Amino acid sequence: MTAASETPALPTTRPSGCPFDPPGEYATLRETAPTSRVRCPAGMDAWLVTRYGDVRAVLADPTMSSRGANSAHANPNADLDEEVSPGSIIQLDGAGHSRLRKMVIAEFTVRRVEAMRGYVQELVESHLDAMLAKPGHADLVEDFALPIPSLVICELLGVPYADRERFQRQSTTMVSTDATRDEGQQAYQEVSDYLADLFTEKQRNPQDDLFSRLISRGVSAGDPLTMEELVVLGLSLLVAGHETTANMIALSTLVLLEHPSQRDAVLEAPERAIEELLRYLSVVQFGVLRYATSDVQVGARAVKAGEWLVAALNSANRDEDLFPGADKLDFHRESPRTHVAFGFGAHQCIGQQLARVELQEALTGLFRRVPDLRLAVPRESLAYKHNTLVYGVRELPVAWG
Ligand code: HEM
Repeated sequence: MTAASETPALPTTRPSGCPFDPPGEYATLRETAPTSRVRCPAGMDAWLVTRYGDVRAVLADPTMSSRGANSAHANPNADLDEEVSPGSIIQLDGAGHSRLRKMVIAEFTVRRVEAMRGYVQELVESHLDAMLAKPGHADLVEDFALPIPSLVICELLGVPYADRERFQRQSTTMVSTDATRDEGQQAYQEVSDYLADLFTEKQRNPQDDLFSRLISRGVSAGDPLTMEELVVLGLSLLVAGHETTANMIALSTLVLLEHPSQRDAVLEAPERAIEELLRYLSVVQFGVLRYATSDVQVGARAVKAGEWLVAALNSANRDEDLFPGADKLDFHRESPRTHVAFGFGAHQCIGQQLARVELQEALTGLFRRVPDLRLAVPRESLAYKHNTLVYGVRELPVAWG
Protein backbone atom coordinates (compact mmCIF):
# COMPACT_ATOMS: atom_id res chain seq x y z
CA MET A 1 0.00 0.00 0.00
CA THR A 2 1.41 3.42 -0.90
CA ALA A 3 1.67 6.21 1.64
CA ALA A 4 -0.78 8.26 -0.42
CA SER A 5 -3.51 5.62 -0.23
CA GLU A 6 -3.23 5.65 3.57
CA THR A 7 -4.25 9.28 3.77
CA PRO A 8 -7.54 9.37 5.66
CA ALA A 9 -10.59 10.81 3.94
CA LEU A 10 -11.93 14.25 4.85
CA PRO A 11 -14.39 13.48 7.66
CA THR A 12 -17.92 13.94 6.35
CA THR A 13 -20.04 11.45 8.30
CA ARG A 14 -21.93 12.79 11.30
CA PRO A 15 -22.32 10.62 14.39
CA SER A 16 -25.48 8.53 14.06
CA GLY A 17 -28.46 9.97 15.90
CA CYS A 18 -26.71 13.38 16.29
CA PRO A 19 -27.74 15.33 13.20
CA PHE A 20 -26.49 18.65 14.62
CA ASP A 21 -22.99 17.49 15.50
CA PRO A 22 -20.03 17.61 13.10
CA PRO A 23 -18.18 14.36 12.29
CA GLY A 24 -16.85 12.75 15.49
CA GLU A 25 -13.23 12.69 14.20
CA TYR A 26 -12.93 16.44 14.68
CA ALA A 27 -12.80 16.33 18.49
CA THR A 28 -9.92 13.82 18.37
CA LEU A 29 -8.09 15.73 15.65
CA ARG A 30 -8.25 19.00 17.59
CA GLU A 31 -6.52 17.23 20.48
CA THR A 32 -4.05 14.97 18.71
CA ALA A 33 -3.42 16.23 15.16
CA PRO A 34 -4.96 19.70 14.79
CA THR A 35 -3.58 20.18 11.27
CA SER A 36 -3.39 16.85 9.45
CA ARG A 37 -3.39 15.42 5.92
CA VAL A 38 -6.68 14.30 4.44
CA ARG A 39 -7.86 13.11 1.03
CA CYS A 40 -10.72 15.30 -0.21
CA PRO A 41 -13.69 14.03 -2.25
CA ALA A 42 -12.27 16.01 -5.22
CA GLY A 43 -9.27 13.66 -5.13
CA MET A 44 -6.52 15.95 -3.88
CA ASP A 45 -4.82 15.88 -0.49
CA ALA A 46 -5.10 18.88 1.81
CA TRP A 47 -4.19 20.01 5.30
CA LEU A 48 -7.31 19.82 7.45
CA VAL A 49 -7.19 22.68 9.96
CA THR A 50 -9.44 21.96 12.94
CA ARG A 51 -8.56 24.34 15.79
CA TYR A 52 -10.30 27.67 16.13
CA GLY A 53 -7.10 29.76 16.38
CA ASP A 54 -5.50 28.05 13.36
CA VAL A 55 -8.68 28.34 11.27
CA ARG A 56 -8.82 32.08 11.93
CA ALA A 57 -5.09 32.46 11.20
CA VAL A 58 -5.45 30.66 7.83
CA LEU A 59 -8.49 32.73 6.84
CA ALA A 60 -6.80 35.99 7.83
CA ASP A 61 -3.57 35.20 5.93
CA PRO A 62 -3.32 37.26 2.70
CA THR A 63 -0.93 34.69 1.19
CA MET A 64 -3.73 32.10 1.17
CA SER A 65 -5.52 32.07 -2.17
CA SER A 66 -9.29 31.56 -2.31
CA ARG A 67 -9.23 30.19 -5.87
CA GLY A 68 -10.91 26.93 -4.76
CA ALA A 69 -13.25 28.59 -2.25
CA ASN A 70 -16.36 27.52 -4.15
CA SER A 71 -15.85 24.44 -1.92
CA ALA A 72 -14.23 22.63 -4.84
CA HIS A 73 -12.61 20.10 -2.47
CA ALA A 74 -16.00 18.67 -1.48
CA ASN A 75 -17.08 17.95 -5.03
CA PRO A 76 -15.83 14.71 -6.65
CA ASN A 77 -16.36 16.31 -10.07
CA ALA A 78 -14.46 19.52 -9.41
CA ASP A 79 -11.68 20.68 -11.72
CA LEU A 80 -9.15 22.30 -9.40
CA ASP A 81 -7.13 23.75 -12.25
CA GLU A 82 -10.11 25.58 -13.73
CA GLU A 83 -9.50 29.30 -14.14
CA VAL A 84 -11.40 31.57 -11.77
CA SER A 85 -14.20 33.38 -13.61
CA PRO A 86 -14.05 37.15 -13.47
CA GLY A 87 -16.80 38.22 -11.05
CA SER A 88 -16.44 35.18 -8.76
CA ILE A 89 -16.08 37.27 -5.61
CA ILE A 90 -15.61 34.24 -3.36
CA GLN A 91 -12.65 32.92 -5.42
CA LEU A 92 -10.78 36.10 -6.34
CA ASP A 93 -7.75 37.31 -4.40
CA GLY A 94 -6.09 40.64 -3.66
CA ALA A 95 -6.99 43.74 -5.66
CA GLY A 96 -9.43 41.91 -7.96
CA HIS A 97 -11.38 40.75 -4.92
CA SER A 98 -11.32 44.12 -3.12
CA ARG A 99 -12.62 45.87 -6.23
CA LEU A 100 -15.75 43.69 -6.33
CA ARG A 101 -16.21 43.56 -2.58
CA LYS A 102 -16.19 47.38 -2.36
CA MET A 103 -18.92 47.58 -4.99
CA VAL A 104 -21.15 45.14 -3.14
CA ILE A 105 -20.51 45.80 0.53
CA ALA A 106 -22.26 49.19 0.51
CA GLU A 107 -25.51 47.29 -0.06
CA PHE A 108 -25.15 45.15 3.07
CA THR A 109 -24.32 47.66 5.81
CA VAL A 110 -26.20 47.34 9.12
CA ARG A 111 -28.16 50.51 8.25
CA ARG A 112 -29.21 49.24 4.82
CA VAL A 113 -30.18 45.86 6.17
CA GLU A 114 -32.10 47.30 9.11
CA ALA A 115 -34.14 49.25 6.57
CA MET A 116 -35.30 45.86 5.22
CA ARG A 117 -36.39 44.51 8.61
CA GLY A 118 -39.99 45.71 8.17
CA TYR A 119 -40.22 43.94 4.82
CA VAL A 120 -38.83 40.73 6.35
CA GLN A 121 -41.39 40.96 9.17
CA GLU A 122 -44.22 41.34 6.66
CA LEU A 123 -43.03 38.27 4.77
CA VAL A 124 -42.82 36.26 7.97
CA GLU A 125 -46.36 37.25 8.96
CA SER A 126 -47.88 36.61 5.54
CA HIS A 127 -46.21 33.19 5.26
CA LEU A 128 -47.40 32.28 8.74
CA ASP A 129 -50.94 33.39 7.81
CA ALA A 130 -50.84 31.12 4.78
CA MET A 131 -49.31 28.23 6.71
CA LEU A 132 -51.80 28.47 9.58
CA ALA A 133 -54.68 28.52 7.11
CA LYS A 134 -53.73 24.92 6.28
CA PRO A 135 -55.43 22.12 8.19
CA GLY A 136 -52.97 21.76 11.08
CA HIS A 137 -49.81 20.63 9.31
CA ALA A 138 -47.26 21.84 6.75
CA ASP A 139 -43.73 21.37 5.46
CA LEU A 140 -41.85 24.16 7.18
CA VAL A 141 -39.10 24.12 4.53
CA GLU A 142 -41.40 24.64 1.56
CA ASP A 143 -43.94 26.89 3.26
CA PHE A 144 -41.65 29.08 5.34
CA ALA A 145 -37.89 28.53 5.47
CA LEU A 146 -37.18 28.58 1.71
CA PRO A 147 -39.58 31.24 0.37
CA ILE A 148 -38.66 33.95 2.89
CA PRO A 149 -34.91 34.24 2.10
CA SER A 150 -35.66 33.71 -1.60
CA LEU A 151 -38.13 36.60 -1.63
CA VAL A 152 -35.76 38.82 0.36
CA ILE A 153 -32.77 38.24 -1.92
CA CYS A 154 -34.91 38.63 -5.05
CA GLU A 155 -36.31 41.93 -3.77
CA LEU A 156 -32.85 43.21 -2.86
CA LEU A 157 -31.17 42.18 -6.11
CA GLY A 158 -34.07 43.11 -8.36
CA VAL A 159 -34.77 39.56 -9.58
CA PRO A 160 -38.47 38.87 -10.27
CA TYR A 161 -39.53 36.16 -7.77
CA ALA A 162 -41.95 34.87 -10.39
CA ASP A 163 -38.86 33.74 -12.35
CA ARG A 164 -37.68 31.49 -9.52
CA GLU A 165 -38.34 28.36 -11.58
CA ARG A 166 -35.44 29.56 -13.72
CA PHE A 167 -32.88 29.59 -10.90
CA GLN A 168 -34.03 27.76 -7.74
CA ARG A 169 -33.67 24.18 -8.96
CA GLN A 170 -30.39 25.05 -10.69
CA SER A 171 -29.03 26.66 -7.49
CA THR A 172 -29.73 23.43 -5.63
CA THR A 173 -27.84 21.46 -8.30
CA MET A 174 -24.91 23.85 -8.03
CA VAL A 175 -24.46 23.28 -4.29
CA SER A 176 -24.97 19.51 -4.52
CA THR A 177 -21.84 17.35 -4.34
CA ASP A 178 -23.78 14.54 -6.04
CA ALA A 179 -24.46 16.36 -9.30
CA THR A 180 -22.34 15.22 -12.24
CA ARG A 181 -20.01 17.69 -13.95
CA ASP A 182 -22.45 17.97 -16.88
CA GLU A 183 -25.42 18.59 -14.59
CA GLY A 184 -23.45 21.24 -12.67
CA GLN A 185 -22.37 22.97 -15.88
CA GLN A 186 -25.84 22.90 -17.35
CA ALA A 187 -27.34 24.41 -14.19
CA TYR A 188 -24.65 27.10 -14.19
CA GLN A 189 -25.28 27.87 -17.86
CA GLU A 190 -29.05 28.12 -17.40
CA VAL A 191 -28.82 30.61 -14.52
CA SER A 192 -26.06 32.55 -16.32
CA ASP A 193 -28.23 32.89 -19.44
CA TYR A 194 -31.14 34.02 -17.32
CA LEU A 195 -29.01 36.62 -15.50
CA ALA A 196 -27.43 37.90 -18.73
CA ASP A 197 -30.94 38.68 -20.07
CA LEU A 198 -31.85 40.34 -16.78
CA PHE A 199 -28.70 42.53 -16.70
CA THR A 200 -29.19 43.53 -20.34
CA GLU A 201 -32.70 44.68 -19.45
CA LYS A 202 -31.42 46.59 -16.39
CA GLN A 203 -28.74 48.33 -18.47
CA ARG A 204 -31.57 49.61 -20.69
CA ASN A 205 -34.03 50.25 -17.95
CA PRO A 206 -32.38 50.68 -14.50
CA GLN A 207 -34.54 50.16 -11.40
CA ASP A 208 -34.08 50.87 -7.69
CA ASP A 209 -32.31 47.59 -6.95
CA LEU A 210 -28.84 46.19 -6.25
CA PHE A 211 -28.24 44.83 -9.74
CA SER A 212 -29.04 48.19 -11.35
CA ARG A 213 -26.83 49.98 -8.82
CA LEU A 214 -23.95 47.57 -9.52
CA ILE A 215 -24.12 48.55 -13.18
CA SER A 216 -24.24 52.29 -12.49
CA ARG A 217 -21.67 52.23 -9.66
CA GLY A 218 -19.05 50.72 -11.99
CA VAL A 219 -19.90 53.16 -14.76
CA SER A 220 -19.66 56.25 -12.52
CA ALA A 221 -16.34 55.02 -11.08
CA GLY A 222 -15.02 54.74 -14.65
CA ASP A 223 -14.58 51.01 -14.01
CA PRO A 224 -17.69 49.30 -15.39
CA LEU A 225 -18.22 45.63 -14.69
CA THR A 226 -18.25 43.48 -17.82
CA MET A 227 -21.33 41.38 -18.58
CA GLU A 228 -19.39 38.26 -17.57
CA GLU A 229 -18.47 39.86 -14.22
CA LEU A 230 -22.04 40.99 -13.60
CA VAL A 231 -23.45 37.55 -14.35
CA VAL A 232 -20.98 35.62 -12.15
CA LEU A 233 -21.26 38.13 -9.30
CA GLY A 234 -25.05 38.13 -9.60
CA LEU A 235 -25.11 34.36 -9.53
CA SER A 236 -22.89 34.25 -6.43
CA LEU A 237 -25.22 36.65 -4.60
CA LEU A 238 -28.36 34.84 -5.68
CA VAL A 239 -27.16 31.37 -4.66
CA ALA A 240 -25.36 32.47 -1.46
CA GLY A 241 -28.32 34.62 -0.51
CA HIS A 242 -30.98 31.97 -0.22
CA GLU A 243 -29.51 28.47 0.18
CA THR A 244 -27.62 29.24 3.40
CA THR A 245 -30.29 31.21 5.23
CA ALA A 246 -33.12 28.85 4.25
CA ASN A 247 -31.21 25.90 5.67
CA MET A 248 -30.40 27.80 8.85
CA ILE A 249 -34.07 28.72 9.42
CA ALA A 250 -35.30 25.13 9.02
CA LEU A 251 -32.50 23.53 11.00
CA SER A 252 -32.77 26.12 13.81
CA THR A 253 -36.50 25.43 14.02
CA LEU A 254 -35.79 21.73 14.39
CA VAL A 255 -33.22 22.41 17.14
CA LEU A 256 -35.75 24.52 19.02
CA LEU A 257 -38.44 21.87 18.62
CA GLU A 258 -35.99 19.51 20.32
CA HIS A 259 -35.09 22.02 23.07
CA PRO A 260 -38.50 23.49 23.95
CA SER A 261 -37.23 24.88 27.26
CA GLN A 262 -34.77 27.10 25.33
CA ARG A 263 -37.38 28.79 23.15
CA ASP A 264 -37.98 31.58 25.66
CA ALA A 265 -34.30 32.52 25.46
CA VAL A 266 -34.74 33.02 21.71
CA LEU A 267 -37.85 35.16 22.15
CA GLU A 268 -36.21 37.24 24.90
CA ALA A 269 -32.81 37.82 23.27
CA PRO A 270 -32.98 36.83 19.60
CA GLU A 271 -29.69 38.54 18.62
CA ARG A 272 -27.70 36.50 21.11
CA ALA A 273 -29.60 33.28 20.39
CA ILE A 274 -29.09 33.48 16.65
CA GLU A 275 -25.30 33.68 17.11
CA GLU A 276 -25.35 30.51 19.20
CA LEU A 277 -27.45 28.72 16.59
CA LEU A 278 -25.01 29.80 13.87
CA ARG A 279 -22.10 28.45 15.92
CA TYR A 280 -23.82 25.23 16.93
CA LEU A 281 -25.08 24.36 13.46
CA SER A 282 -22.21 25.70 11.28
CA VAL A 283 -24.10 24.86 8.10
CA VAL A 284 -21.17 25.42 5.69
CA GLN A 285 -20.42 21.82 6.50
CA PHE A 286 -17.26 20.91 4.55
CA GLY A 287 -15.31 24.01 5.60
CA VAL A 288 -13.69 26.51 3.25
CA LEU A 289 -10.78 25.75 0.93
CA ARG A 290 -7.58 27.74 0.64
CA TYR A 291 -4.38 27.35 -1.42
CA ALA A 292 -1.01 28.31 0.06
CA THR A 293 0.91 30.63 -2.28
CA SER A 294 3.96 30.75 0.06
CA ASP A 295 5.46 28.48 2.69
CA VAL A 296 3.64 29.11 5.94
CA GLN A 297 3.44 27.74 9.47
CA VAL A 298 -0.01 26.61 10.66
CA GLY A 299 0.24 25.75 14.34
CA ALA A 300 3.05 23.18 14.52
CA ARG A 301 2.82 22.30 10.80
CA ALA A 302 4.99 23.65 8.02
CA VAL A 303 2.73 24.07 5.01
CA LYS A 304 4.42 24.46 1.63
CA ALA A 305 3.52 26.79 -1.20
CA GLY A 306 1.23 24.90 -3.59
CA GLU A 307 -0.57 22.90 -0.89
CA TRP A 308 -4.30 23.03 -0.19
CA LEU A 309 -5.87 23.66 3.21
CA VAL A 310 -9.41 23.08 4.44
CA ALA A 311 -10.41 25.44 7.24
CA ALA A 312 -13.02 23.35 9.10
CA LEU A 313 -15.49 25.97 10.33
CA ASN A 314 -17.69 23.38 12.05
CA SER A 315 -14.70 22.04 14.00
CA ALA A 316 -13.46 25.52 14.98
CA ASN A 317 -16.93 26.34 16.27
CA ARG A 318 -16.82 23.31 18.59
CA ASP A 319 -13.33 24.09 19.96
CA GLU A 320 -13.52 23.80 23.77
CA ASP A 321 -10.70 26.35 24.18
CA LEU A 322 -13.07 29.03 22.96
CA PHE A 323 -16.47 27.55 23.68
CA PRO A 324 -16.55 25.61 26.96
CA GLY A 325 -19.16 22.85 26.71
CA ALA A 326 -19.02 23.42 22.94
CA ASP A 327 -21.29 20.50 22.07
CA LYS A 328 -24.11 22.02 24.10
CA LEU A 329 -26.51 24.64 22.84
CA ASP A 330 -26.10 27.46 25.35
CA PHE A 331 -27.85 30.76 24.75
CA HIS A 332 -25.99 32.43 27.62
CA ARG A 333 -22.43 32.25 26.31
CA GLU A 334 -20.09 35.19 26.75
CA SER A 335 -19.11 36.83 23.44
CA PRO A 336 -21.58 34.88 21.29
CA ARG A 337 -20.26 36.52 18.12
CA THR A 338 -16.77 34.96 18.20
CA HIS A 339 -17.89 32.01 16.05
CA VAL A 340 -16.63 31.55 12.48
CA ALA A 341 -19.89 30.36 10.89
CA PHE A 342 -19.63 33.33 8.48
CA GLY A 343 -15.92 32.69 7.86
CA PHE A 344 -13.23 35.18 8.83
CA GLY A 345 -10.86 37.65 7.15
CA ALA A 346 -11.11 39.24 3.72
CA HIS A 347 -13.87 36.92 2.46
CA GLN A 348 -16.03 36.95 5.58
CA CYS A 349 -19.68 36.69 4.57
CA ILE A 350 -21.03 39.85 2.97
CA GLY A 351 -24.64 38.91 3.69
CA GLN A 352 -24.22 38.19 7.41
CA GLN A 353 -26.28 41.17 8.65
CA LEU A 354 -29.07 40.26 6.30
CA ALA A 355 -28.95 36.62 7.38
CA ARG A 356 -29.10 37.71 11.04
CA VAL A 357 -32.18 39.86 10.49
CA GLU A 358 -33.93 37.08 8.56
CA LEU A 359 -33.12 34.49 11.22
CA GLN A 360 -34.19 36.74 14.09
CA GLU A 361 -37.48 37.66 12.47
CA ALA A 362 -38.29 34.17 11.16
CA LEU A 363 -37.65 32.35 14.44
CA THR A 364 -39.25 34.88 16.79
CA GLY A 365 -42.25 35.28 14.44
CA LEU A 366 -42.71 31.53 14.18
CA PHE A 367 -42.53 30.66 17.89
CA ARG A 368 -44.57 33.70 18.96
CA ARG A 369 -47.40 32.90 16.55
CA VAL A 370 -47.24 29.11 16.83
CA PRO A 371 -46.16 28.32 20.41
CA ASP A 372 -47.52 24.77 20.10
CA LEU A 373 -45.51 23.98 16.95
CA ARG A 374 -44.32 20.35 16.94
CA LEU A 375 -42.74 17.78 14.66
CA ALA A 376 -45.41 15.88 12.73
CA VAL A 377 -43.22 12.79 12.14
CA PRO A 378 -40.75 10.84 14.29
CA ARG A 379 -37.42 12.68 14.38
CA GLU A 380 -35.61 9.55 13.10
CA SER A 381 -37.53 9.70 9.81
CA LEU A 382 -36.16 13.12 8.82
CA ALA A 383 -33.72 13.26 5.88
CA TYR A 384 -30.74 15.61 6.02
CA LYS A 385 -28.62 17.24 3.33
CA HIS A 386 -25.43 15.24 3.76
CA ASN A 387 -24.40 15.77 0.14
CA THR A 388 -24.76 19.52 -0.24
CA LEU A 389 -22.24 22.22 0.60
CA VAL A 390 -24.74 23.78 3.00
CA TYR A 391 -26.17 21.38 5.57
CA GLY A 392 -29.90 21.30 6.24
CA VAL A 393 -33.02 19.22 6.57
CA ARG A 394 -34.79 18.26 3.33
CA GLU A 395 -38.36 18.51 4.62
CA LEU A 396 -39.62 19.50 8.03
CA PRO A 397 -43.19 18.25 8.53
CA VAL A 398 -44.69 20.22 11.42
CA ALA A 399 -48.10 20.36 13.11
CA TRP A 400 -49.90 22.66 15.56
CA GLY A 401 -53.19 22.92 17.37
C1 HEM B 1 -26.82 31.90 7.62
C2 HEM B 1 -26.52 32.31 6.43
C3 HEM B 1 -25.13 32.37 5.84
C4 HEM B 1 -23.99 31.67 6.15
C5 HEM B 1 -23.81 30.62 7.24
C6 HEM B 1 -22.95 32.15 5.25
C7 HEM B 1 -21.63 31.70 5.28
C8 HEM B 1 -20.62 32.24 4.53
C9 HEM B 1 -19.21 31.89 4.65
C10 HEM B 1 -18.65 30.84 5.61
C11 HEM B 1 -18.51 32.65 3.77
C12 HEM B 1 -16.99 32.68 3.59
C13 HEM B 1 -16.48 31.83 2.45
C14 HEM B 1 -14.95 31.83 2.36
O1 HEM B 1 -14.25 32.43 3.16
O2 HEM B 1 -14.44 31.17 1.44
C15 HEM B 1 -19.48 33.46 3.06
C16 HEM B 1 -19.15 34.35 2.05
C17 HEM B 1 -20.10 35.04 1.32
N1 HEM B 1 -21.46 35.12 1.57
FE1 HEM B 1 -22.46 34.19 3.05
N2 HEM B 1 -23.49 33.08 4.41
C18 HEM B 1 -24.80 33.27 4.74
C19 HEM B 1 -25.69 34.15 4.16
C20 HEM B 1 -25.42 34.95 3.08
C21 HEM B 1 -26.36 35.87 2.49
C22 HEM B 1 -27.80 36.12 2.94
C23 HEM B 1 -25.72 36.46 1.45
C24 HEM B 1 -26.34 37.51 0.56
C25 HEM B 1 -26.07 37.75 -0.62
C26 HEM B 1 -24.35 35.93 1.41
C27 HEM B 1 -23.37 36.26 0.50
C28 HEM B 1 -22.03 35.91 0.60
C29 HEM B 1 -21.01 36.37 -0.33
C30 HEM B 1 -21.21 37.24 -1.55
C31 HEM B 1 -19.79 35.82 0.12
C32 HEM B 1 -18.41 36.00 -0.49
C33 HEM B 1 -17.71 37.19 0.13
C34 HEM B 1 -16.30 37.40 -0.37
O3 HEM B 1 -15.73 36.47 -0.96
O4 HEM B 1 -15.77 38.50 -0.19
N3 HEM B 1 -24.22 35.03 2.43
N4 HEM B 1 -20.75 33.22 3.55
